[in-house]
Amino acid sequence: MQAGIHEMEESMKKMKRQCMDLMQIHNLVDWKTHLPQLRRWKEAGKIRYIGITHSTDSSHEELERIMRSEKLDFVQFNYSITYRHAEKRLLAAAADLGVATIINRPFAEGSLFKKVKDKPLPAWAQEYDMDSWSLFFLKYILSHPAVTCVIPATGNSVHAAENVKAGTGKLPGEEVRKKMAGYIDNLSFL
Ligand SMILES: NC(=O)c1ccc[n+]([C@@H]2O[C@H](COP(=O)([O-])OP(=O)(O)OC[C@H]3O[C@@H](n4cnc5c(N)ncnc54)[C@H](OP(=O)(O)O)[C@@H]3O)[C@@H](O)[C@H]2O)c1
Repeated sequence: MQAGIHEMEESMKKMKRQCMDLMQIHNLVDWKTHLPQLRRWKEAGKIRYIGITHSTDSSHEELERIMRSEKLDFVQFNYSITYRHAEKRLLAAAADLGVATIINRPFAEGSLFKKVKDKPLPAWAQEYDMDSWSLFFLKYILSHPAVTCVIPATGNSVHAAENVKAGTGKLPGEEVRKKMAGYIDNLSFL
């Protein structure tokens, strides 16, 4: 527990913050130990929101169980147009419980770009302001009603500028989202 407190205090020093907006328990490591401490810090005004994270489909059941038994503000997990396991229960559970969601691995660690290499974007994507594959992948996620935020990773400033555009323009509705997932599922046949 002391090591966890030290690590969080170091993060606050490095980021020069007296109050951290969101503190997340990474990969559920020792979450039962850290949660009471985070609650004390929240009460003291040192942090505003508390969250838990993981990034594998096999963690979703546990994330849901914890959300249902503990009061949390945020849950972070993996979800993308090809890895849609979170659509089975987790996204709906977060919405029901009023827990904000942060989506990691939105490009399946970059593998989605390999999947669509040399493949055409469908013409209808333009109607929803998706003129690149990154916008197609990110808008699929952002248009889910239970998604609060998506955190694509990049070390490339051109990619970062492209990805930010997903926060603007039109978003697809439910019918178009189904069409998008179907298009990607059938890509190998194009
Ligand atoms: N348990 C956890 O809390 C947990 C676990 C895993 C990940 N995360 C977080 O989730 C976030 C997502 O990271 P991730 O590593 O899982 O991968 P990701 O966002 O699914 O994919 C990142 C890959 O996509 C490429 N990429 C990004 N934008 C692109 C674009 N516009 N065009 C072409 N390629 C593009 C990047 O390459 P370039 O660098 O060349 O752009 C990189 O190889 C990170 O912030 C990470 O810290 C959290």
